[in-house]
Amino acid sequence: MRKILVASGKGGAGKTTVSINLSSALNKLGHDVTLVDCNFTTPNIGLYFGITKIEKSIHDILSAKSSNISDAVYLHKSGAKIVPGNISLGSLNKINPQYLNKKLKRLSSDFVILDSSAGLGREAMSSLAACDEVLVVVNPELPSVVDGLKVVELARKSNKEIIGAVINRQKGKLEMKTSKIESILEVPVITIIPEDEHVKKALVRSNSVYDLYPNSKSSIAYRKLAHYVTGDVFYEEKKNILKDFVDLFRLG
Ligand SMILES: Nc1ncnc2c1ncn2[C@@H]1O[C@H](COP(=O)(O)OP(=O)(O)OP(=O)(O)O)[C@@H](O)[C@H]1O
Ligand SMILES: [Mg+2]
Repeated sequence: MRKILVASGKGGAGKTTVSINLSSALNKLGHDVTLVDCNFTTPNIGLYFGITKIEKSIHDILSAKSSNISDAVYLHKSGAKIVPGNISLGSLNKINPQYLNKKLKRLSSDFVILDSSAGLGREAMSSLAACDEVLVVVNPELPSVVDGLKVVELARKSNKEIIGAVINRQKGKLEMKTSKIESILEVPVITIIPEDEHVKKALVRSNSVYDLYPNSKSSIAYRKLAHYVTGDVFYEEKKNILKDFVDLFRLG
């Protein structure tokens, strides 16, 4: 089992979106993946997947020593396995994040993707302690990259393997160059995910971009990321305008 933490220094960089779509892309490559919401204060995975009735959440699992995390796994129609959080504030007070590491061992997936909370607070630190590897999400702006560096430094200090960085929401040519971002972070940039309206469309349809729009630009970037993570060879796909067009109007 590989436990990968998706982290960022700044909030809103795209951790949840990357976690969901990396999980989906790994799943489509044939791997068993469980996605765990480790943003205990403001959990979003359940909302993103449209799970309205949460019987057991990560909060319940971290509140009781004897609970089994397998009881909190939801199977989404896309095939995604999810351990969502409980959005009520009351449930936050009861959890012991230090149980996380032990609880995750009960999962049997090849990959466990942990969607972190932003920053370097206690919450993010408990997820960092529970993971094996870290993926850093940054936006192509200096403050986001500088805050991302703090995550890289902390991961190094904690002896975690850093897979690399993901640049999310690339809008145009005027933004920070990839080489500059790599030289600040001192880790490779694995993939660049563009600003993509399919992200919002997928959110409205309570599913991953990768599952709904596999030929969108962001899905191609996620495919590259999943191949990098697994070590498989990735063949860059030629842009297919017809496929893009079909994707854009597939409203199902
Ligand atoms: N590539 C993209 N193109 C367009 N919108 C995006 C993209 N990536 C993320 N977003 C949007 O940016 C917002 C923040 O994304 P997300 O929730 O994944 O960030 P986060 O890092 O998990 O935030 P938080 O720190 O609050 O947990 C969301 O509205 C999401 O739909
Ligand atoms: Mg999030």
